Amino acid sequence: MLKEIVCITTLIVLVGCIINVECGRVRHYKWEVKYEFKSPDCYKKLTIAINGRSPGPSIIAQQGDTIVVELTNSLLTENVAIHWHGIRQIGTPWSDGTQGVTQCPILPGETFVYKFVVDRAGTYLYHAHYGMQREAGLYGSIRVSLPDGEEEPYKYDYDRSIILTDWYHKSTYEQATGLSSIPFVWVGEPQSILIQGRGKFDCNTPAGIQSGLCNATNPECNPYSLTVIPGKTYRLRIGSLTALSALSFQIQGHNMTVVEADGHNVQPFQVKNLFIYSGETYSVLIHADQDPSTNYWLSAKVVSRNSTTPDGLAILNYYPNGKYPPNSSPPPVGPQWNDVSPRISQSLAIKALPGYIHPPPETSDRVILMLNTQNRINGYVRWSVNNVSFTLPHTPYLIAFKQKLLWHHAFDQTPPPDGYDPNHDIYTVAKNVNATSSNAVYRLEFNSTVDVILQNSNTMNPNNSETHPWHLHGHDFWVMGYGLGKFNQSSDPKKYNYVNPIMKNTVAVHPYGWTALRFRADNPGTWAFHCHIESHFYMGMGIVFEQGVDRVGNLPKSIMGCGNTRG
Ligand code: C2O
Ligand code: CU
Repeated sequence: MLKEIVCITTLIVLVGCIINVECGRVRHYKWEVKYEFKSPDCYKKLTIAINGRSPGPSIIAQQGDTIVVELTNSLLTENVAIHWHGIRQIGTPWSDGTQGVTQCPILPGETFVYKFVVDRAGTYLYHAHYGMQREAGLYGSIRVSLPDGEEEPYKYDYDRSIILTDWYHKSTYEQATGLSSIPFVWVGEPQSILIQGRGKFDCNTPAGIQSGLCNATNPECNPYSLTVIPGKTYRLRIGSLTALSALSFQIQGHNMTVVEADGHNVQPFQVKNLFIYSGETYSVLIHADQDPSTNYWLSAKVVSRNSTTPDGLAILNYYPNGKYPPNSSPPPVGPQWNDVSPRISQSLAIKALPGYIHPPPETSDRVILMLNTQNRINGYVRWSVNNVSFTLPHTPYLIAFKQKLLWHHAFDQTPPPDGYDPNHDIYTVAKNVNATSSNAVYRLEFNSTVDVILQNSNTMNPNNSETHPWHLHGHDFWVMGYGLGKFNQSSDPKKYNYVNPIMKNTVAVHPYGWTALRFRADNPGTWAFHCHIESHFYMGMGIVFEQGVDRVGNLPKSIMGCGNTRG
């Protein structure tokens, strides 16, 4: 009887949506977002916390459950919005939490309710999606388990989650101001890498001593420890929400078997170190089969940039009672920062697990080439896609399309280009004489199949190309292929993987390389697609897709109140 009542409640919650999920529970969370002093790496700094915590509380749910988060913004002078990264928001595009795309910002003092269904088991994340707020500490993990009676295609005894982040001592405001100043001011490399919100800044450096804010014995910066029982197998869910850094994660003395990527089962493969980019999640299996009388380092090292950031360290500890000797062996060294080949090999090794393969559509209706460049526009340093640098409008797209506010100049009506000058040389600094800023969107035909080819190129510095992890909201895409150099439209599609491509929501485009994605525009709404590096998106490295907004149900009033949506 009670179960039926819960189910009916869930159905009422879902009215207006496509109901393709099993009847699940409703999980209710009450969160207060607030600034607090925290010392995650022993250095005291203003941090945005949820209910006093950073990382925030984990959402632990079962496939088909409805998540309700009642979010109170207690930041006093700052707006907020939270995105549920990897959750497709089928039927609830207004709960995606992307300020400027799917909702107005939540004002100080306001309480906003996010309500959505977690329709697929897997490892996901949540984080702020307003300005550069994510890197101020507003993030956490979402773990969705299979429905009762269903089993994973692999076995483990315990399930653990960690999130990797990088950490700056400068405020997000100081950083954002630098990015949008002439001359450009770059904050540089992060001070620390945090593993599950904990790192260690060296308080004995001049910066540590002079600040008077660094205390090496603060328990808040005790390293995270993964305590294991000998002989057991652990599923470790690893997510990255770095602001900037690409990471190599490894566990001293223990191999890892990769079994899940972004919520999809992968054909298992073993690694000594796992490369992980901002916005990605992986599950690895670890066997606790080493000498239990010592500890082992968990380490996260910056790759792809010649970084000054020390490796992030945590501990794998075989003593269940918390008494362990300090690890005397030096942490593992990790791969060379500039060796791209093992990173490409890992990208290529990630394939869908037989039995869990979603075959991709054999053809696509539209191919969009997206050239990633760094440009100067009116003297400002920006990132662009096809020479268009993205800016967010004041009227969120979802509301503008649905309420037909277009004639109020809600955003630029000139569609952004589906390609770029075929003669563009990706190996030289772009001239970009015609680069512009725009908030125009790509409108996709509902239910059509779209290919996106991300094309990397040189930055504004000679002989330099960065790694960009691109994340798509509202969808999973098939990863059809990767390549080095310039994408060849006639020969490269012939090499696409139609057999067992993995589906993901975030994928890297490697230096001077290309990455080909395919997805179905089958989720009515407006969805951001952007580089997950916080400063890159802030500097224009993103776009928005519109699809089938006429099919979206009535928008909740709570997402409105800004731009043309007032009154
Ligand atoms: Cu996790 Cu739009 O981002
Ligand atoms: Cu980027």
